[in-house]
Amino acid sequence: MKKILLVVGARPQFVKLAPVIKVLKETTSFGLTIVHTGQHYDYMMSQVFFTELAIPEPNYNLEVGSGSQIFQISDILTKLTPVIQTEKPDMIMVFGDTNSTSAAALCGAVQQIPVAHVEAGLREFDKSIPEEINKLVTDALATLYFCPTPTGVKNLSNSGITDHVYLTGDVGLDLLFANRQKFSNPEQCLDKLNLSSKKYYFATCHRASNTNNTDNLKNILTAFGQLDYPVVFAVHPRTSKTLSENNLQHLINKNIILSEPLGFWDTQILIKNSKMVLTDSGGIIKEAYFHKVPSIIIDKQTEWVEIIDEAWAAIAGPSTENILKLMTNFETPLNHNQSLGHGRSAVKIAQIINEYFQHKK
Ligand code: UD1
Repeated sequence: MKKILLVVGARPQFVKLAPVIKVLKETTSFGLTIVHTGQHYDYMMSQVFFTELAIPEPNYNLEVGSGSQIFQISDILTKLTPVIQTEKPDMIMVFGDTNSTSAAALCGAVQQIPVAHVEAGLREFDKSIPEEINKLVTDALATLYFCPTPTGVKNLSNSGITDHVYLTGDVGLDLLFANRQKFSNPEQCLDKLNLSSKKYYFATCHRASNTNNTDNLKNILTAFGQLDYPVVFAVHPRTSKTLSENNLQHLINKNIILSEPLGFWDTQILIKNSKMVLTDSGGIIKEAYFHKVPSIIIDKQTEWVEIIDEAWAAIAGPSTENILKLMTNFETPLNHNQSLGHGRSAVKIAQIINEYFQHKK
């Protein structure tokens, strides 16, 4: 029996793991071992996703916790190595672009184990972004590349990677295609926050470039405070910390409704019923696109080029003026090409892995 070790550690990875592990369990006979690095550890950043998305409990938790990029990567390397030696997997599967992704890819590659990268090929073309370093390291070391978009395939080809590159679509959206009923009754969630559908904005902000730079965060919050409808701002722990350490709470005026990190289905309800989304999260931009809600990106770039090309999102950067200007003038596109896949990405990935192992026998 072939064994796959699936390594996750942060919120956006649990969302990608859920559909993949479900399909692997239902359609293959692989031995599946889940390793949680412990990069995210608060209930609302981690366990809530395992519970809501019915992900099996991890077999290992490395309890890495918070720290710098170097600390997290080196601690994962140290703690994952003995797990790999014990489990002797035939493949290591990694997701997205977090410190847990690059560390697990490096650990696998050093031990000569094929690494499968889900969400391969995406680039932001700026090495000052921690996630960009993780993307580059992971794709340099992977064996199988599961790309969510044609741009991902093209980026890999431009860097000379063409073997075992597959356009699968985005696995995160598989969950949304398969569970529409979970966000079809918004009343309870909206009532709790006293909101009416399409009469509020939904916002998140957690990228280091925005939370480690108080000027950027101030600009963003100033824009939120001036919009024509209330802004539901689901605050990431990193952002809360910056707000309190720098006494920036005065920027949270009456127009901003602060919320703790939310569960997955409440997040989908709030995105779907919002007038527009403001975010620096790649995951939320994709989810907004799925729900046909436009996004304003409060970061300088995005890897989700297809969504920009279709004009469902626009890049404002962390500038009050740009955010307000783009929000005022935004025209919702008439067309939607569903260009991130059609809900069968995990099925394609399982088939490709099966064929890969059959070929290797
Ligand atoms: C990480 C990923 C990012 C992903 C994001 C989703 C990297 C480089 N970044 O960023 O790509 O989009 O997760 O959320 O891997 N914290 C808590 N509780 C938690 C987790 C974090 O309080 O459960 C706080 C800690 O103070 C920590 C800070 O948040 O220092 C940042 O956490 P970290 O995992 O380093 O990065 P994220 O900003 O979450």
